[in-house]
Amino acid sequence: MPKIASFSRRNFMKSAGVTALVGTLGAGNSQAASPQKMAKNGTFDFDTPYNRIGTNSSRWDSPAKRYPAGQFKYGMGVASMDFEAPPCITEAIAERCEHHTWGYMSSTESLVDAVVQWSGTRHGLDLDPKSVVLSTGVYPGVIAGLRTFAPPATKVLMLTPIYDGFFYHCRHTGVIPSESPMKRVNGRFEIDWEDLESRMTPDTHAMIVCNPQNPTGNVWTQEELLRIGRLCLEHKIVVLSDEIHSDIVRPGHRYIPFASLPDEAVVNNSVTFNAISKTFNMAGMKTAFLYSKNPTLLGRVVQNHRADLNTLGVTATEAAYRNGAPWFDQLLPYLDGNHSFVETYVRDNMPLVDYHRAEGTYLTWLDFSKAIQAIGAPQMALEKGYSSPEHYLQDWLVEHSGVYLNPGANYGPGGAGHMRMNLGSSRLIVKEAFDSMAAALRKA
Ligand SMILES: Cc1ncc(COP(=O)(O)O)c(C=O)c1O
Repeated sequence: MPKIASFSRRNFMKSAGVTALVGTLGAGNSQAASPQKMAKNGTFDFDTPYNRIGTNSSRWDSPAKRYPAGQFKYGMGVASMDFEAPPCITEAIAERCEHHTWGYMSSTESLVDAVVQWSGTRHGLDLDPKSVVLSTGVYPGVIAGLRTFAPPATKVLMLTPIYDGFFYHCRHTGVIPSESPMKRVNGRFEIDWEDLESRMTPDTHAMIVCNPQNPTGNVWTQEELLRIGRLCLEHKIVVLSDEIHSDIVRPGHRYIPFASLPDEAVVNNSVTFNAISKTFNMAGMKTAFLYSKNPTLLGRVVQNHRADLNTLGVTATEAAYRNGAPWFDQLLPYLDGNHSFVETYVRDNMPLVDYHRAEGTYLTWLDFSKAIQAIGAPQMALEKGYSSPEHYLQDWLVEHSGVYLNPGANYGPGGAGHMRMNLGSSRLIVKEAFDSMAAALRKA
């Protein structure tokens, strides 16, 4: 008997009807019961699918509830990865669990030190530990930033398509998103500088920068960031830089922390929000951080922010920073391989889909415009009351291929025609999901 009801995989499978995928993954092979078997002689196996079904996973278990008739098979939406975490994380948690007390913690200095070390070693960022504030997620950090710099009913600038969470932040804090759609130029999403600057009005007090950009995968260059930063400075707009995907960057690109830009005034006009949760797939551990080189800005944000950290999140996060690099250094090329696989696959097998090359993140942003027309999604969306053709396509893909993607319309202007797909899975699962979508679209 599982000790936690929600871990009863068999019950879950019965009620949610996702046996097809479980079959693919090897039903009952209870990987979760024997953690760390993926690590052999320092080599991590990202190829063998790791079954998360029935573990209260929003990526796998939420769509199964939404499609109770059992059509859903492949959870390729929510941005969490399917790989087993590195052993150092599980070991650190297990060791802490041996001491059976869970009272308030005395200090988190050691975790801050680990953040500073990682940011310096991997990204050349020189952080003063006093400028780093821990938080329970990037989400609450950005909300505190908005509360501080953007009074209700003022505008917050962002480049779209962008992470849909920012629209919730805006709603939550009563500010108005001011969206500057990017233009696709030679296959890359480029900033429309004229449009961006035209939106830097006196009632715009903050700009959210997403680097790398979710969902398009842009890894912003130093020149782009400097230009954004100088425009914001000139127009008295504070930069809130969300860098949660910073570690996941593809060869040929380099993540530039906003706070490392070679212009002190620009840097001092910014607050950055980050976490290692995407890097090591630890979003459920709810441990993140924010920092600013400008103590005045930081002090103001801190007045609107209170982190309630939890012991296991702190333990796990510090273990990842200090000991997780070997695992991550093997993961990164694997994710790059997934991106390359998808590029070739879409070109060779999916004439109704256009590929766009991501520079970072484990997300791919696919143009389904032709598929949307082929299945009559605009008309069907109107007739059936969907909020967009992409939302209709989302259901259509689940019905016809079992694959669950995120509709582009959720990501603001420029999202039309697109779907976001999560590639943070074993290649086998990625391939099966694509095979299934390609077969469905061939019949469209
Ligand atoms: C750009 C971006 N920011 C923030 C978040 C959420 O961060 P957290 O879980 O730390 O609140 C996500 C999650 O996908 C994201 O993609």
